[in-house]
Amino acid sequence: MIDPRTIVINQRLSKINRIVAVSSGKGGVGKSMIATALALSLSKEGCKVGLFDLDFTGPSTHIILGVPSNVQPEEEKGLIPPKVEGLEYMSLVYFVGDHPAPLRGIDVSNALVELLSVTRWGELDFLVIDMPPGIGDAVLDLIRLVERIEFLIVTTPSFLAFEVVKKQLSLLCELKIPIIGVIENMQMDKSNCVQAETEKIGLSYLGKIPYDSKVEVSIGNPTELLETTIGKALAQIKKSKSELRCRIKQ
Ligand SMILES: Nc1ncnc2c1ncn2[C@@H]1O[C@H](COP(=O)(O)OP(=O)(O)OP(=O)(O)O)[C@@H](O)[C@H]1O
Ligand SMILES: [Mg+2]
Repeated sequence: MIDPRTIVINQRLSKINRIVAVSSGKGGVGKSMIATALALSLSKEGCKVGLFDLDFTGPSTHIILGVPSNVQPEEEKGLIPPKVEGLEYMSLVYFVGDHPAPLRGIDVSNALVELLSVTRWGELDFLVIDMPPGIGDAVLDLIRLVERIEFLIVTTPSFLAFEVVKKQLSLLCELKIPIIGVIENMQMDKSNCVQAETEKIGLSYLGKIPYDSKVEVSIGNPTELLETTIGKALAQIKKSKSELRCRIKQ
């Protein structure tokens, strides 16, 4: 049986130019920090940007942005994402607050379909999606439901992390899903292994972000986040790689 909500989803997303899922087969590699910083820096350049937290069981972007707890979406033929730091911002935390949301597979899919089908995004240049770790329900559902999805993959230099990420890359390639490229986060030495392996499989290596103790201190302060190595490296990546450049529609 076809869920009627799934038909609505691509109409709801039709005014968005690029839909970018920040994802990784591995947990704790910096997806949420990078997704938030990417959204903020594109917005600072003048792009219209949305940030969508799809990590239902471990939402983090509201903490990174410092979203006040009284901020709520407005209801008008759907839900209008509140503006936070210039971003159209949507997350399950509006509905569950500080309570845990222990969701099983089918409940994750349902929450995802529900949020995608009720959210009324405006005209956006970019919608950045912060994904949960792994290649489970959220990744498979996004691929199934969102026609124009593109993946931005985050890894760390760790052999352990990149071995898992490589499995995700091979799955996405097999399914012919567009991959913008790979970002290497929390770099501590000069090793070029991740770059070499990424290029060997024919994907774009976007750049490395050095480990920076100021990242932790910046949580809750978007201006400070853009001053860390994450903000600075993303600015550099956007300058040198056209895939993430902000092209403002005239
Ligand atoms: N470049 C960096 N330098 C220093 N610390 C960093 C850097 N990037 C991320 N961190 C820290 O690493 C931790 C994990 O970051 P984050 O929550 O963004 O990862 P994640 O991939 O979203 O995790 P999860 O898989 O749980 O969603 C955080 O404490 C963050 O402050
Ligand atoms: Mg995260």
